[in-house]
Amino acid sequence: MPGSLFPQDFLWGGAIAANQAEGACFEGGKGLSIADVIPYGANRHPVKMGIEKRFKLRDDEYYPSHLAIDFYHQYKRDIALMAEMGFSVFRTSIAWSRLFPRGDEVTPNPEGIAYYLDLFNECKKYHIEPLVTLCHFDVPMHLVTEYGSWRDRKMIDFFVTYAKACFEAFDGIVKYWLTFNEINLLLHTPFSSSGLVFEEGENSEQVKYQAAHHQLVASALATKIAHEVNAQNQVGCMLAGGGYYPWSPKPEDVWAAMEKDRENLFFIDVQVRGYYPAYAQRIFRENKVTLLVTEEDEQILKNTVDFVSFSYYASRCASADMGDGTNLSINAAQSLSSPYIKQSEWGWGIDPLGLRLTANMLYDRYQKPLFLVENGLGAHDKLNEDGEIIDDYRTDYHRSHIQALGDAIADGIPIMGYISWGCIDLVSASTGEMSKRYGFVYVDKDDQGAGSLTRIRKKSFWWYKKVIASHGNDLY
Ligand code: BG6
Repeated sequence: MPGSLFPQDFLWGGAIAANQAEGACFEGGKGLSIADVIPYGANRHPVKMGIEKRFKLRDDEYYPSHLAIDFYHQYKRDIALMAEMGFSVFRTSIAWSRLFPRGDEVTPNPEGIAYYLDLFNECKKYHIEPLVTLCHFDVPMHLVTEYGSWRDRKMIDFFVTYAKACFEAFDGIVKYWLTFNEINLLLHTPFSSSGLVFEEGENSEQVKYQAAHHQLVASALATKIAHEVNAQNQVGCMLAGGGYYPWSPKPEDVWAAMEKDRENLFFIDVQVRGYYPAYAQRIFRENKVTLLVTEEDEQILKNTVDFVSFSYYASRCASADMGDGTNLSINAAQSLSSPYIKQSEWGWGIDPLGLRLTANMLYDRYQKPLFLVENGLGAHDKLNEDGEIIDDYRTDYHRSHIQALGDAIADGIPIMGYISWGCIDLVSASTGEMSKRYGFVYVDKDDQGAGSLTRIRKKSFWWYKKVIASHGNDLY
């Protein structure tokens, strides 16, 4: 659109993930995945952290992913809603265990392929580009119980077989790919992000960094194969973003903030540059980590990504002594509560300028096109007497963040698109709640799994439709 801050080919849309939306956990030949054994309630946190083993389902627990929002059956209606808002991109993930129920098979489950072909073609029918994540908190459970998940090198081959099957089956339909969602969360929530469980007394840092290495090699190999299958394919890495502010100008606090940033950027440094950053050796040394890296691995890592995608919900804050203030967990990362930043109902800071800062920092560091693939506000929504949801707080959040992204574009950064998280209400990854809602579309379901699953357009639905129609010019 002439005069718009956003480039002509800028993509607008929303995102979901298979494990938080599809449900149909035992249909279509799907195998059990890590998300399916993570319960709602008090046991959720220790299971997500890999502290408590949950290899089998229990009768006394509720597992939100089993039904989720039933997107598996309702996707045609849901995609039509996204098309009604004018989406030009729809981000979802493939459930690895729908294609490879155990994970170590050599050929994919045809029913799984057929399902995703239908889904992606449905998007194309409305001229919506699918942006597909291969692994969004979703590892087949068999790979966990048989191989210890990503701690085993064999995972590289299993993942590559899976990735290749996807690139071939959806060739010409899907062009934008992400390998691992929020790859840096492996360090923060090792089971829910990567299927890692720890034995008592073992060096968990050793396990995590070796697993990270296997993922980085698998990601690089998948990137290479994506390009071989179709030179048009574009592959991105995906960072759980949000930079750290120092708690004070004290040099030690500034250093602490840089250290925290590096913990996350470590992954992206490898995926963009093709080799480990210099500071990695010190991290390994200090954590008594001995990384097994072959010469072949080093060559493979040189297959770098085409673009850098990231999620941004909130900025974070660090000090030399993290005991200085109230501790928060923001998208699984530890943070101090900043007096300058308002918080959501779940304690995630609302900081649009932090988005502009993050985008600038990422571009200065990598000089690759950026793609904001998750941004949104988790909030309690209430139906009023007329059955409507007046969610102006959500509109305010998106408006200020789209403005900040526009500012980042004006700063000279190439940004491929804006993707809201949870364009339709879905299961929260951190808490398993339904009541932490992000959508422009409401789904009638509660935290215990009861509800009609009816979809209702919220007030923000009409707002986002207008934003997209005006190509970001009309944000009110
Ligand atoms: C990101 C994930 O961590 O943030 C999503 O990629 C997740 O899967 C989203 O849902 C929001 O987090 P939460 O915990 O509020 O669902």
